Amino acid sequence: MLSTIELYNEAKKFIEMYYTELGLCPNEMTLRMNTIKEEINSNGNYFHTKHELEYGAKVAWRNSNKCIGRLFWNSLHVFDERDIETEEELFQSLVNHVSFATNNGKIRPTITIFKQKSYKNSFKIWNHQLLRYAGYQTEFGTIGDPHSIKFTEVCEELGWRGDRTPFDLLPIIIQKNNNKPKLFQIPNDIVLEVPISHPELDWFSSLGMKWYAVPMISDMMLEIGGIQYTAAPFNGWYMGTEIGARNLADSNRYNLLPTVAERMGLNTASNSSLWKDKALIELNIAVLHSFKEAGVSIVDHHTAAQQFKLFEERELNNGRPVTGDWTWLIPPVSPATTHVFHQQYKDEIVKPNYFYQKAPY
Ligand code: ARG
Repeated sequence: MLSTIELYNEAKKFIEMYYTELGLCPNEMTLRMNTIKEEINSNGNYFHTKHELEYGAKVAWRNSNKCIGRLFWNSLHVFDERDIETEEELFQSLVNHVSFATNNGKIRPTITIFKQKSYKNSFKIWNHQLLRYAGYQTEFGTIGDPHSIKFTEVCEELGWRGDRTPFDLLPIIIQKNNNKPKLFQIPNDIVLEVPISHPELDWFSSLGMKWYAVPMISDMMLEIGGIQYTAAPFNGWYMGTEIGARNLADSNRYNLLPTVAERMGLNTASNSSLWKDKALIELNIAVLHSFKEAGVSIVDHHTAAQQFKLFEERELNNGRPVTGDWTWLIPPVSPATTHVFHQQYKDEIVKPNYFYQKAPY
């Protein structure tokens, strides 16, 4: 938590940005700052208006240095759920988020924002994403997503039991204050998943691979004007490589490249046959093809880079320097074919923004 003076200074910076960018009346800004000052002096806290919250969440996306999809920052859909008091209500609102964002495949970038952190209150969603597959370490090796092993153990300690398929959807864990965390199950019928097939390689679908449609990050903290929203899950749509070059391909994730290369009949004994690269391309073609065929929004990395170029131009035209984290912005497939690779970005943290927070388990 910030000291009152730090909080006031952060609030002032945000409110000035807000009134300036939106061309609002400077006199009203002074009035607003006076109100905030009084609130902070009497409670050590202040509350955003609905519109400040909405704009702050959007700008936090615009400032997300790791994200290549920022062109669409201003179209973020914001659900203000700051009134919610119980874990049960919070879960209901997550169910709404999943349905609204999924929108039968026409994905809507969405954020749901819960109560801000204070001396009295804190809400935390323990999951990394609202939808994620479980991972189990067994005597026969790993089942499912190795990224989820630790979290899966926590779920089972809290009484959940997974089926031990490679794609068990994890339950949601919600914690209010320092209370015992509560466990909830997202209803299966609102979860959209995409089976992975390939436009030419007919055997591909027999690998039995799939991925969920919507990536919804739920473990980051949204900070606006010194106020910390510790539970504020958000989503965009996938860029194909996130699934095809990382989730399904990384050797410490689903590790599919040896299997795909084998089925393609490639020489996996020789690095210089570039079997990994060939398998990677087909896997990524399969992911893009499958999402398209299922009518689920997805973007390939070339298009995403072009959109990011447009974002950079628009930001500069608006007199805002573009910050970025090059190591994250370059796509993991054919990076040098995009302009991003050939450019430098200043990885400076501008607020509002989304921040990592310590895992509670
Ligand atoms: N890379 C993460 C995943 O594969 C998702 C991160 C957010 N991605 C996004 N396109 N908004 O699940």
